[in-house]
Amino acid sequence: MNSAKDEATVPLKKVPQHVGIIMDGNGRWAQARGLPRTAGHRAGTENLREIFQAAVDFGIEILTLYAFSTENWSRPRAEIRALMRLLNRVIDDELDEFVERGVRICHVGLLDGLSPIVVQKIQHAEEASKENERLIVNVAFNYGGRAEIVEAAKRMIADGLSVDEVDEERFGEYLFTAGLPDPDLIIRTGGDMRLSNFLIWQAAYAELYFTPTLWPDFHRQDLRQALVSYQQRDRRFGGLDSDSQ
Ligand code: FPP
Repeated sequence: MNSAKDEATVPLKKVPQHVGIIMDGNGRWAQARGLPRTAGHRAGTENLREIFQAAVDFGIEILTLYAFSTENWSRPRAEIRALMRLLNRVIDDELDEFVERGVRICHVGLLDGLSPIVVQKIQHAEEASKENERLIVNVAFNYGGRAEIVEAAKRMIADGLSVDEVDEERFGEYLFTAGLPDPDLIIRTGGDMRLSNFLIWQAAYAELYFTPTLWPDFHRQDLRQALVSYQQRDRRFGGLDSDSQ
């Protein structure tokens, strides 16, 4: 299975229910064109509509997108402002269409630290789309996996849970992704092979797919290629495959 053309002919038989995406490479995409980095983030945002539609068409039920990490606050202020503006603009310009297409938007991450305008937009998007079920899109914005775990621990203590009441299942109920299945597949574009603090609890048994393609160049067929790779994997969750038993 070498070329994208071959991939396109492989039927999709086993589609992951929940896919996480680390949308990396916007800056390099822009710099390669002599554009400011923020133009790359804009191009990356324009990609979302196509990827949402492809996800629905392929049968993915949940997408979790890494849009702004707790570590991204260390970027230049102008870039941070541009990313905040982009989130606002996507909600202003695209929310109606997303809602019409059955997309439910959920925020995963901390609201603390975001401006009141951004918080209000996020809450509006969640409220306006809460009845939708076709595709859940979790926007990880001001998100970090370690911060999420610390936050969960704090809230369990604040709720007065006893030591005996804390187990993996209970812990999961205190994460931002409470109630959702863990990601089956995590895709990272842009060539780096790491999770960068993305869903580090939930990704314990996720299949990982890394591609050098930069996020603004990652299209429907690239998503399909990732799904073909996923369905060729043997997921054992720490057990043995059926042939070895
Ligand atoms: C990583 O590329 C990408 C980001 C830090 C932001 C991703 C954000 C978007 C695609 C748009 C916003 C999304 C929503 C839902 C509003 P990079 O800047 O690290 O690229 P580089 O590795 O080439 O420098």
